[in-house]
Amino acid sequence: MQYFIKSGSPEKQRVACVIVGIFDRRTPTEPAQAIDRASKGVISAVIRKGDMDGRLGQTLMLHNVAGTFCDRVLLVGLGRERDFNESAYRKAQSAAATVLSSTGSIDAVNCITRMQVKGRSLQWNVQQAALAAEAAFYHFDQCRGEKSRTELQPHKLERLTFDVSRRSDLQAGERGLAEGLAIARGVGLAKDLANLPGNICTPSYLAQQGRDLGEAYPIKIKILEENEMRELGMNALLAVASGSRQPPRLIVMEYMQGARNDRPVVFVGKGITFDAGGISIKPSAKLDEMKFDMCGAASVMGVLMAASELRLPLNIVGVIAASENLPGGSAAKPGDIVTTMAGLTVEILNTDAEGRLVLCDALTYVEKNYQPSACIDIATLTGACVVALGHHASGLFGNQSSLTRRLLAAGEQVGDRAWELPLWEEYQSQLKSEFADFSNIGGRDGGSITAASFLHRFTRKLSWAHLDIAGTAWTGKTATGRPVPLLVQYLLNIVERKEV
Ligand code: BES
Ligand code: MN
Ligand code: ZN
Repeated sequence: MQYFIKSGSPEKQRVACVIVGIFDRRTPTEPAQAIDRASKGVISAVIRKGDMDGRLGQTLMLHNVAGTFCDRVLLVGLGRERDFNESAYRKAQSAAATVLSSTGSIDAVNCITRMQVKGRSLQWNVQQAALAAEAAFYHFDQCRGEKSRTELQPHKLERLTFDVSRRSDLQAGERGLAEGLAIARGVGLAKDLANLPGNICTPSYLAQQGRDLGEAYPIKIKILEENEMRELGMNALLAVASGSRQPPRLIVMEYMQGARNDRPVVFVGKGITFDAGGISIKPSAKLDEMKFDMCGAASVMGVLMAASELRLPLNIVGVIAASENLPGGSAAKPGDIVTTMAGLTVEILNTDAEGRLVLCDALTYVEKNYQPSACIDIATLTGACVVALGHHASGLFGNQSSLTRRLLAAGEQVGDRAWELPLWEEYQSQLKSEFADFSNIGGRDGGSITAASFLHRFTRKLSWAHLDIAGTAWTGKTATGRPVPLLVQYLLNIVERKEV
């Protein structure tokens, strides 16, 4: 797909499809009025006859509209004008993009990008429109046979232009487009990796993906294998991997395009390529979805790709703890006690609480090898987070309010929201162990908080945040690419404010 930014009259566009908005209570937007005038009332007639009333997300494709140079006009309902906020704008853009993904049109001009959303810039409009379009055009067919792959023809659209009302807006439009497309590339990579099945996307496969990123972008890759992990004392990570035939990997990716002395932003991803629970085995319902237990890792790769595409002048490090979690003759057993890389001992009372075990050693690795300005881990960590927040918000925890505030704001801005949960010391007592420094489970109550509290014990020296993406990384059976948009927007905002 090729994208363009233009400013022009809707009725004069020589394209297959022009997209204009209609507000609820049957009010055509200015671009719709222009087409209505050129066509001597075609749109007014459609509205009068009751085929389009402007309800949010409603769409109607018109053909051969007189007085225009386009083959089709797509009307999109924008909802009530006074309710036209961020979420309405996104819904309208998604509805338009969904129609475009199944139309026969090869090119289109989208005029909804002209509509001012209160408190947001034109740059934001275009960024969000590009994200909506790329989301609608995404399809995953890597695992289909050759025959069905050719039958499942993707969209026909080749060129999409976002219209901005003023020529002076062209530059902001281009900027928004670049941001949207870079974020979408990152989201696409995260989705692709996550949608792959566990037999293909193994820890070694993720490591190879890291190497590939290092080939394509200015990213230095280091991959730690079992022997090095043993030397470093990453016994919690190794305990998780011990039940599997697939060896674990610690994947370190350094994108150092900031000033030499800038402290890096470090992202740490949970990369459990399949979570069967280990000896504390999971029930088999929806067990296939545990291939998504590496979505944190996938998002770290997506963020690094997007940052590279945008050539962000920052130092960014990605660390991925990759392993399977399977039962087996050499698997860790409930009651086993391991000494973590930090020297703290952990009683593994439930082998299914493996995410915190691989992450604690990865976080210690970060603490010992970098002086991050911020360290953010991303993990499909707890079912309890899905119970607490459902599928709309990622769970956010952190030990520094300026960091959590920025992450919340970035998510709000880009439409990839998080919601903060507490990290109070009172929760720590739930992790008590009879035999070790603490255990890896804290009971059912506040399950996502005790999981975060476990990680907190390893991050006292860091400015740290934790995103529990168990409810947001996939919906139904497909990956969402979240929280790549949130994290890239967070980085963009750092660049904008030049504060590292
Ligand atoms: N990967 C799971 C969390 C998960 C479960 C994410 C379902 C999305 C959907 C994690 O490793 C896990 O098994 N967590 C346990 C922790 C418990 C044993 C303390 C959980 O949430 O049940
Ligand atoms: Mn688990
Ligand atoms: Zn897991």
